[in-house]
Amino acid sequence: MIFSYRTAFLSLSLAARSALGVLYTDPSQLPASSHYDYIIVGSGAGGGVLSSRLSEISTAKVLLIEAGLNPAGVEATEIPFLGPDLIGTPFDWNFTTTAQAGLDGRSIAYSRGFALGGSTSVNFMVYTRGSEDDYNRWAKVTGDSGWSWNSLQPYFKKMEKLVASADNLSQSGKLIPSIHGTSGPVDVSLPGFQLVTDNLVIGATADFPTQFPFNEDMNSGNTIGIGWVQYTIGGGQRASSFTSYIQPALSRSNLDVLINTQVTKVMQTGTSGGLPVFRGVQFGTSANGPLYALNATHEVILSAGAVKTPQILLLSGIGPSAQLSKLGIKTIVNNAHVGANLQDHPLLSSQYSVNSTATFDSISQNATLAGEIQEQWETSKTGEFTLGPANQLGWLRLPKNSSIFKSTADPSAGPTSGHYELIFTDGFVSFAIPSPSTGNYFSLFTNVVSPSSRGSITLASTNPFAAPLIDPGLLNSPFDIYTMVQAIKAGKQFMTASAFNGFILEPYGDFAAAVTDAEIEAYARTYSTTVWHPTSSAAMTSVNSSGGVLNPDLTVKSTVGLRVVDASAFPYVPAAHPQTAVYILAERAADLIKAKYASS
Ligand SMILES: Cc1cc2nc3c(=O)[nH]c(=O)nc-3n(C[C@H](O)[C@H](O)[C@H](O)COP(=O)(O)OP(=O)(O)OC[C@H]3O[C@@H](n4cnc5c(N)ncnc54)[C@H](O)[C@@H]3O)c2cc1C
Ligand SMILES: *[C@@H]1O[C@H](CO)[C@@H](O)[C@H](O)[C@H]1NC(C)=O
Ligand SMILES: *[C@@H]1O[C@H](CO)[C@@H](O)[C@H](O)[C@H]1NC(C)=O
Ligand SMILES: *[C@@H]1O[C@H](CO)[C@@H](O)[C@H](O)[C@H]1NC(C)=O
Ligand SMILES: *[C@@H]1O[C@H](CO)[C@@H](O)[C@H](O)[C@H]1NC(C)=O
Ligand SMILES: *[C@@H]1O[C@H](CO)[C@@H](O)[C@H](O)[C@H]1NC(C)=O
Ligand SMILES: *[C@@H]1O[C@H](CO)[C@@H](O)[C@H](O)[C@H]1NC(C)=O
Ligand SMILES: *[C@@H]1O[C@H](CO)[C@@H](O)[C@H](O)[C@H]1NC(C)=O
Repeated sequence: MIFSYRTAFLSLSLAARSALGVLYTDPSQLPASSHYDYIIVGSGAGGGVLSSRLSEISTAKVLLIEAGLNPAGVEATEIPFLGPDLIGTPFDWNFTTTAQAGLDGRSIAYSRGFALGGSTSVNFMVYTRGSEDDYNRWAKVTGDSGWSWNSLQPYFKKMEKLVASADNLSQSGKLIPSIHGTSGPVDVSLPGFQLVTDNLVIGATADFPTQFPFNEDMNSGNTIGIGWVQYTIGGGQRASSFTSYIQPALSRSNLDVLINTQVTKVMQTGTSGGLPVFRGVQFGTSANGPLYALNATHEVILSAGAVKTPQILLLSGIGPSAQLSKLGIKTIVNNAHVGANLQDHPLLSSQYSVNSTATFDSISQNATLAGEIQEQWETSKTGEFTLGPANQLGWLRLPKNSSIFKSTADPSAGPTSGHYELIFTDGFVSFAIPSPSTGNYFSLFTNVVSPSSRGSITLASTNPFAAPLIDPGLLNSPFDIYTMVQAIKAGKQFMTASAFNGFILEPYGDFAAAVTDAEIEAYARTYSTTVWHPTSSAAMTSVNSSGGVLNPDLTVKSTVGLRVVDASAFPYVPAAHPQTAVYILAERAADLIKAKYASS
């Protein structure tokens, strides 16, 4: 593993202090007489919301099946600062991509959360809703105005509880309180510890008011500009779909949760109106162990995420018949789009050495200091350990006259969506090169957020316990590499702002030698990775469209009794960190499912 940041104290933090008693940890523990109205597969951003909202129906019995572990009491999943350290631990599926043509043929690690809470138990907690144009495009391509920015407003408020940051930082001028929710399950706050670089980054926007404007709240619908990061953090601790939705619902007698268990396929239980009904699930704990089966009275809902949901559909005979027949899987619903249309955001981290002795590097290089900061967090939930990886970031567009638009239509959703993102970190963080053991650094992340490239999830084998082939298609289109190069050039220009004088010293490593466009492109292909935002591998389209996998109500086309509620459903990846969009999608899905239950 090339990623080596802040690992010294992680092992200590991985052991659970306590465990919950109300979970089934093996399928053999499920009572023989169990029957469920809803069976939810996967407990991440999508499945976590559903388990809580559907168990609000007092007369419905809900089962949530999760492949991964219980994170309760595991400090590394609670301490925001340790988020990046969870990569490659027992809380990670440890996927790997196929060889990426856009990355000089490299295969890269592809992290996904393996826990209650799914990737929200391991992610970096950045809270961005996305833009007005992102959601309006969803509404347009699905023909369902319910997915528009305006229609979804009640759900944005419903999920969110805006709380004070760990150090009670004034919100004035850093976000717009009136657009936020105040009583939802998910805590949201500004960064909980102030850094020297905060004033430098915000100050630098004043040097470039047109090119890099300050944005007071990037969650207003217009994302464009640079501003303060909002995090799914409350009281100095990570807020995940586990802590926000699942844990509070565990005391309900109509919700059962089964962990350490993988659903291997969904099963046809009959035919209705000429369509196959899929209300059965098969599950187990290992390829050689026993398999179990259950049928839901109402629905089976796949929330296994953008990698595993299409894999389950394919293993169940829902997918391209040519691919399935090669593996001897009988096609029940022939749909060429299952696993196609995968989208992700390519990410590159570049560093500068800085004139400081107090960056995150000082913590990762000094176990004594790290121990003191951990103790402070344990005692008062304050200090640097309450921080996510960056206090500021921004969303920016290519100039309208950019040469790429002569040959490529703009793949972004519209003027409120960025083409690229800049993220500013007060220390050395890279997912491609090891951190130096000495020195202090500043990291500039560049991220292509409206990519035109499309990848895929396909089956590698019929073994449900093996990973599928994951091809996110990173930097695999002329637009995406052009945008990455322009983002790096823009980022370099931003770093020349007078606010950084005397702080930023010089570019580090191969970044220093990447000067011409050709050199920057080669540098980007050598070092780019992912920001782990796979989406759209089982996309929704309009009701009568023959493209796509889902209807606008998230039911699987040409089936009965089966829905998908997770990031695979997005028609397009939003120009945003996508956890919030999944929470919102699932909040609306819960209401659609409840309405159907009420009318049944
Ligand atoms: C390292 C990392 C950092 C990230 N940082 C951010 C960030 O800062 N901000 C942001 O907005 N987004 C971030 N994301 C992305 C965000 O977390 C995801 O987009 C979001 O969690 C996706 O929700 P989901 O429900 O689609 O899938 P997930 O949250 O991944 O949940 C899927 C769940 O299904 C389970 N599962 C899979 N297969 C099976 C099976 N066969 N049977 C049973 N269970 C199964 C999985 O174990 C998992 O718990 C990050 C992701 C990662 C990995
Ligand atoms: C991921 O890798 C780590 C480190 O090797 C390992 O401990 C963990 O069990 C792996 N995760 C899974 C789900 O197998
Ligand atoms: C923040 O404010 C709360 C409530 O007023 C108080 O209890 C807490 O001690 C304050 N925290 C800090 C770090 O000042
Ligand atoms: C599920 O339904 C199918 C079709 O009716 C039936 O054959 C099967 O036995 C059922 N499975 C369980 C566990 O009830
Ligand atoms: C490491 O941190 C400790 C505790 O803050 C401090 O006393 C010590 O000087 C630091 N060591 C170095 C080499 O900076
Ligand atoms: C785009 O327009 C700007 C401002 O008018 C100009 O400075 C720049 O050179 C133009 N770029 C291209 C690629 O034409
Ligand atoms: C480093 O910072 C100090 C104090 O802020 C300043 O005096 C000095 O000139 C800076 N050094 C460089 C090389 O910019
Ligand atoms: C879809 O097709 C059906 C049958 O042709 C038709 O009744 C219905 O109006 C169409 N729906 C939409 C949204 O176009």
